[in-house]
Amino acid sequence: MKSGIKIIAFLGSPRKNGNTELLLKEAMRGIEEKGGSLKTYNLNLMKIKACQDCGGCNETGRCIIEDDMGLIYQDIREADRIILASPIFFFALSAQAKVMIDRCQSFWCEKYLLKKAIEEGRFGRKGLLLLVGGMKKDVGIQCGEACAKAFFRTVSVQAHETLYYLGIDQKGDILHHPTALSEAYEAGKRLMEEE
Ligand SMILES: Cc1cc2nc3c(=O)[nH]c(=O)nc-3n(C[C@H](O)[C@H](O)[C@H](O)COP(=O)(O)O)c2cc1C
Repeated sequence: MKSGIKIIAFLGSPRKNGNTELLLKEAMRGIEEKGGSLKTYNLNLMKIKACQDCGGCNETGRCIIEDDMGLIYQDIREADRIILASPIFFFALSAQAKVMIDRCQSFWCEKYLLKKAIEEGRFGRKGLLLLVGGMKKDVGIQCGEACAKAFFRTVSVQAHETLYYLGIDQKGDILHHPTALSEAYEAGKRLMEEE
């Protein structure tokens, strides 16, 4: 049965079929298993300019830069579930993910300056954060998680689940992890739970 839950995903890795993309595909399989579908934005292939801090969104909550971010804003408004998938680069989210997040400053203005947060739909708004790092240290995960949480809360995703995997460095390493793929698959299925 088709579900009315709208799900979008942001892929922040530049590596085609890399570890992040493989994880995301497993989450997608879980979503499809439950009758859902997913619109994925491959951020590396998009032309998104960095936030210019121009103040153009301060009074309207609308960004004035015209580029591929224009394709994303309305989908964020309408999404019931948002997935952010990123590798850890230099102890942080990838630049591809971060540039998209910074452009959500317009939502920040809408929520905190204009006091008009995006409203939850009938399924609530939930998030899933997928992170992969090549190192064994979790400092990059902590930094990435803090940034992702700020993004999620800004776009009214009040709760999110995080799956992260460390020591996953070479392309395809995630395929040999004992639990990562099944955990992503199960997390995808959970996103389809109505609330
Ligand atoms: C520019 C760059 C910076 C990186 N910095 C870190 C880091 O700070 N911490 C870490 O754990 N891994 C770091 N890595 C390793 C990646 O997180 C790792 O290779 C990951 O599996 C890449 O995921 P992907 O295959 O989805 O692109 C870095 C990789 C690159 C290319």
